[in-house]
Amino acid sequence: MPRGPALSGFSFRWQITLLGAMVVVLFAGTFMTALNALRSTRSAVMSEGKQSVAETARALALAYAHGSRMQPPDAALPNPPTREALAQISQRVLETTDGIVGGFYWADGDRLASYAYPSSDGVTEGEGVSFAVKPAVIEIAREAANKGQPAERVFTGLGDIVLVHAVPMSAPKQTPGSAWAMKRLSGLPGANRLRAYLEAMVLGLASLLSLVLTLVVVRNLQGGVRKIEGGLAQMQGNLSSQIEADNDPEEIQRIAKAINRMAVNLKQGIENEKQIENRMRHSERLAALGRLVAAVAHEVRNPLATIRLRVQMCEQDANSSAVQESCAVALEEIERLNGMVNRLLSFAQPVQLHPGPTELARLIEQRLAGFQEKARNQGVCLVTRFSEESGTVSVDQNRMAQVFDNVIQNAIEAMTGAGGTLSVSLGAVRAAGGSREVCVEFADTGKGMNAETASRVFDPFFTTKTTGTGLGLSICHELVRAHGGDIQVASTERVGTRIRILLPAGNGVAANN
Ligand SMILES: Nc1ncnc2c1ncn2[C@@H]1O[C@H](COP(=O)(O)OP(=O)(O)OP(=O)(O)O)[C@@H](O)[C@H]1O
Ligand SMILES: [Mg+2]
Repeated sequence: MPRGPALSGFSFRWQITLLGAMVVVLFAGTFMTALNALRSTRSAVMSEGKQSVAETARALALAYAHGSRMQPPDAALPNPPTREALAQISQRVLETTDGIVGGFYWADGDRLASYAYPSSDGVTEGEGVSFAVKPAVIEIAREAANKGQPAERVFTGLGDIVLVHAVPMSAPKQTPGSAWAMKRLSGLPGANRLRAYLEAMVLGLASLLSLVLTLVVVRNLQGGVRKIEGGLAQMQGNLSSQIEADNDPEEIQRIAKAINRMAVNLKQGIENEKQIENRMRHSERLAALGRLVAAVAHEVRNPLATIRLRVQMCEQDANSSAVQESCAVALEEIERLNGMVNRLLSFAQPVQLHPGPTELARLIEQRLAGFQEKARNQGVCLVTRFSEESGTVSVDQNRMAQVFDNVIQNAIEAMTGAGGTLSVSLGAVRAAGGSREVCVEFADTGKGMNAETASRVFDPFFTTKTTGTGLGLSICHELVRAHGGDIQVASTERVGTRIRILLPAGNGVAANN
């Protein structure tokens, strides 16, 4: 699997700290750049130039005033000083200055006494060298000498600027004069200070904004993460709780929604698992009960057969009609008990089918005939409605007879007392998958069931009758399912019940079509 960038291995805390540090560095860099921009503006360069020119002029004046120190100890500066002496002073001062020209002016004679400027081969000196601004230099130097205070001028040319500064000299016994210095500034930056200020301000504001934005993003992210942490901690105790993140950034909202969905699914899953566990426990209990019942039924069957034999013998040998009547009642009860024992045993045994071609219409008629007398006694009318399409299907005839008997028995029992009608219909239907099925429907007009009872009719041992075992429909369900069919119940209290049995019409022995 391709590895992501190395940074993704770090926690968000470190990544954000790194981002913050980078923003701080950017901020500092912008500040320095802005400062540099300010320093290289036209006015900044000018003021720096003016300062250095003024300092040079002052240095020249000072050096002249202390000229004696530069001479041999016993020698004073000659008055007026010689050109060599002045050249020495100029050379000494201007050596260290960069691009500044300077010299001296004497009021006596209104002339420049000496000037020097650094060149590639040292300091050159001379008096009569002309340069464009010489008259202006003389004027400024004169002004300084006459007024006894520094004078300064700025000459703006086409491509450059010339700065001139003069400082008065008042050494005792010396001719009044002044020291002057001049600097030519060429190729000045075009930017003015206001523009530089504006640029610096915009850059500074942008940096500040990015810093504030980073802090806000960090705060939002931390807030969102804390909210999710808190929500998850709450969910540990209560899965119904939800993380509220409606006012948080979209990504946090999406994460919160995904976690909420997961919690709901998890809760549903846990509930389903509990239900399955309960159902499994219920089935285990029923299975254990079934085994116990089967064991008891098995033990009861043989003594019951002996009792029946003895009672039959008694009935045959009895001379008194009262004894014969009692024997008949006893035999009836024994039959009922025997039926119950058989039913319990058939429930406990695994279903084994012996299918064969069966005409369902005939089988149903046959089973109904068996109940005819009982139905008449209960005031129940038996009605059949068979479609011609129903024909022969492959079923275990005995087992299907057992199913129909249980259903008919229940229907007659539901109509006991009030009487009613049991309509049995048979027809072919098409299943959802397209295959053909045979449908047998038993509709009675009995007392019906409430929803709770209807949902439990196929549970083994579920009964609402005092003498019922609650196994009738449960066995029907097992048998119909074993045939690959289905059994459904629909009932309305005090209206009646409809039991639908669907059987596959395939397997070579299909319904007539
Ligand atoms: N046609 C019906 N009308 C109303 N209730 C019915 C009908 N068929 C079944 N029931 C209800 O379903 C319950 C379960 O029926 P089932 O046949 O499984 O057991 P049972 O009839 O109670 O006992 P058993 O059939 O073992 O004698 C019945 O007790 C009854 O409450
Ligand atoms: Mg029953």
